[in-house]
Amino acid sequence: MPLRNQKNSFRYIAFEGIDGSGKSTQAKLFADYLENKGFCVFLTKEPGGSTDKIRDLLLNYRWSKRAELFLFLADRAENAREIKNKLDKGCIVVSDRCMYSTIAYQGFGEGLDIDFLEELNLFSTDGLKPDIVFCFDVDLETMNERVGKRDVIESKPRDFFYRVREGYRELAKRNDRFFLIDGKKKKEEVFGEVLRIWESL
Ligand SMILES: Nc1ncnc2c1ncn2[C@@H]1O[C@H](COP(=O)(O)OP(=O)(O)OP(=O)(O)O)[C@@H](O)[C@H]1O
Ligand SMILES: [Mg+2]
Repeated sequence: MPLRNQKNSFRYIAFEGIDGSGKSTQAKLFADYLENKGFCVFLTKEPGGSTDKIRDLLLNYRWSKRAELFLFLADRAENAREIKNKLDKGCIVVSDRCMYSTIAYQGFGEGLDIDFLEELNLFSTDGLKPDIVFCFDVDLETMNERVGKRDVIESKPRDFFYRVREGYRELAKRNDRFFLIDGKKKKEEVFGEVLRIWESL
């Protein structure tokens, strides 16, 4: 099904936010919604959209922050090729995390240089960027309640996640079509907000 005119340029939609903020839940709801409307939808995630090998390395071993960064970028480079392929076929891509996670976690969280990270991000994807980002904001108590067994990254200290959350809020201010949504509300209400924004574009 062809996309409505005004959405022709909005075909790569990413879901962002701190751990447990509701990204996977909302990305799935959104992908199902679009599929039910007859669109070709490719639901993917970072890390690990195209291969679980790098994801396993990232989530199960401790790395220096620089090694961690390059593993994320290597994973993103692989994923971007597949995303481009799907976009070329006319599909809408719905991604659970994207390059903004690197800015929030490795930049605001770990203190790596944000301008440099932005360059590396674009280098890793060969220039591909999401068209729209829905970012869910929750406090750290909600994050802790929702996250079950923690992987290596989820086990980082509280002040790290404080900075990551603030980073996402800053990204929403700095970027167009980067929408910050209250993720504490009920799943259906959060999804209602996603659809309201999507339909308004
Ligand atoms: N709005 C909500 N209200 C209450 N619980 C929620 C809400 N959204 C998601 N949850 C629950 O919180 C948990 C985490 O949600 P989800 O996996 O979607 O978050 P996530 O952002 O993908 O987390 P992660 O970064 O760990 O992958 C799940 O058990 C999910 O069912
Ligand atoms: Mg998830």
